[in-house]
This record gives sequence, C-alpha cells and structure tokens, in this order.
Amino acid sequence: MEIVASAPAKVILFGEHFVVYGKPAIVMAINKRAYVKAKKRDDKKIYVNSLNLKASGFFENEKFTPKTGGLEARKKLEPVKAVIERVFQLHERKCGLEVEIDSKIPVAAGLGSSAAVAAATAMAVSTLFDIKIEKNEIFNIAYEAERLAHGTPSGIDPAIVTYGGTMIFQNMNMQSLTVSCEILLVIGNTGLKRSTGELVAKVRINKKKYPSIVNPIIEAGGEIAERARRALENGEIEVLGELMNINHSLLSAVGVSHKLLDRLVAAAREAGALGAKLTGAGGGGCMIALAHRETLGRVASAIKEAGGTAFIAEKSDEGVRIEAER
Ligand code: PMV
Repeated sequence: MEIVASAPAKVILFGEHFVVYGKPAIVMAINKRAYVKAKKRDDKKIYVNSLNLKASGFFENEKFTPKTGGLEARKKLEPVKAVIERVFQLHERKCGLEVEIDSKIPVAAGLGSSAAVAAATAMAVSTLFDIKIEKNEIFNIAYEAERLAHGTPSGIDPAIVTYGGTMIFQNMNMQSLTVSCEILLVIGNTGLKRSTGELVAKVRINKKKYPSIVNPIIEAGGEIAERARRALENGEIEVLGELMNINHSLLSAVGVSHKLLDRLVAAAREAGALGAKLTGAGGGGCMIALAHRETLGRVASAIKEAGGTAFIAEKSDEGVRIEAER
C-alpha cells in the first residue's frame, strides 16, 4: 500500500514583517504543491528521499546513513523524520517507512515549501496507518517541524498549508477570509536565497534606532492589511493592487527590499500589473504581481526579462489532502 498526500505553497499578500509586531497579515494558499509518498518497509529503517533537495538516506534509531547528498543530507531530512516520529508517538505506532518528497514549490523562497512538506508528510504517514488525523493536529505537527528547521516561526506557514484558502493572521490567531474576486498572481523569483531571521533582525534594529519613524510605518502596514481585508471581501481588485504598491514601499523603507526585487516589481507594474510587492521576508526570494487574466502573460515575460523567473498562480482553497491510495 502506498499513500500520496500533498499540501499547497503560500504567498503573503499583505503584512509580512509588521505581523511580527502584532499587526495582521493576509496569506493565501496557491496552486503549486508539495507531494509526499509513504509506504511501509519490512525492516525498522526510515528512508527519506527528497527529490528536490537531492538528499536521501536511512534513519535507524539515532543513526543516519546518507545515500545521496552526503552528510548535509541529515540536516535537510531531519524535519521530515521528526514529523514521522511525532505521528508515531501520538498514535503509538512504529514501523519502517519509505517516504519520497517531490515538491513543485521553490525552496527557500518564502513560499512555504518546508511547511507544505511537513503537513503532507504528517497526512501521508497517518493515512498509511489508518490513523484519523484532524487538521489541527497536522497544524501542530507542521509547526513543531518548522520550529526545528527555523527557530521561531510565526505559525503562518503551517496554518495556511494545512487549511488552504485565504487567511488573516494576527497574534497567533488565524481566521479564514471570504474572497469575492478572482486573485490571479504572477510570482517572480529573484533566485536569491535569504535568511528570514536576519531580515526580521534588520527591521528590529531599524525600529530601535529610529522608533518615531519606523513605528508609524508599522502602524501603516497594519492599516494596509485591514483595508486589504475589506477589499478582498468586497472584491475591490484595483484597491488591492494599489495597496500592494504601498505595502512594497513600506517594506522597502524598513530595509527589506533588494535591488533585484525592486527591478522585478517595477517591470511587473510597467507591464500592466494592478500592483506588485515583495512577498515574505524580502532581501531576495520572491515578489508577487496582481493582474487581470489577459495581462498575466505579459507581466510574467517582463519579470523574466528583468532577471527573475516567473510563474502564474491562483488561490488554492484546499489545504493538505490525500492525492492517492493505491
Ligand atoms: O519569507 P517567509 O515566508 O519565511 O516569511 C517571513 C514573514 C515574516 O513576517 C518576515 C516573519 C514571520 O515570522 O512572520
């Protein structure tokens, strides 16, 4: 028996960084997914193979034997193994396993790939053992895995990849949003890896150095997310584009943009996007552009010409799910 589960990628539409200071952030699951296949083994080993990270190996008790990717492989695969062990622990099972990860989500780009892999792994493994797992349990497991991988995550990623759709997130509370218009995005990737922790620290330093300047920017960021929530609910697509543009400028002002991000954002706007901004931590990673359907292709081409890679994405209402049982 073999189970395949999947979970979606995400983009932060509004409010990254300001969310760290208690303001709301709006996040949306998109139609690019990470797939995880699980099947039992006759021995006690846990074999994890990540096709995208080009890392694989066997875990047996505390021992790890790499198969591909050398000793680095352990660090990359450890969060997946932690998810498996957590499922075993919660449901008092233990068995040898083979887990294969095939993710269509770019890695380390702020699109939630590690959380999606964690959630899909939890669902695939529990289904393989006939365990009825609730979504809140998957969220908790994915959150713990994120802690292992990134230290102190806000919880946005595990929530959105588990539940899907569009959510507003504030002070660890999340709520689903009703969206009354079609949200079509072009996602531009600078290809530049960055550290979320370092960028969060950069904003903190600026805030400390210039509190009377940076605090109002954070307030304005919160206002943008509140206004964007109403625009999503009322289907005010043009307003959303304008708010994205303002949000990008604020992120730039607190020091988390990058010249390539700015270039991709400008190219998208010039090609007819309704609005464009960096998404996630910034400093590299990805930007998003909101556009009408007929403009998407042109915006994607402009982003590529400006030095990024690009793909078109739309909202995915479904979070983590089973793809196949065979
Ligand atoms: O790039 P990502 O998806 O890791 O987003 C980081 C979002 C921040 O607001 C910058 C940090 C956080 O933990 O919310």
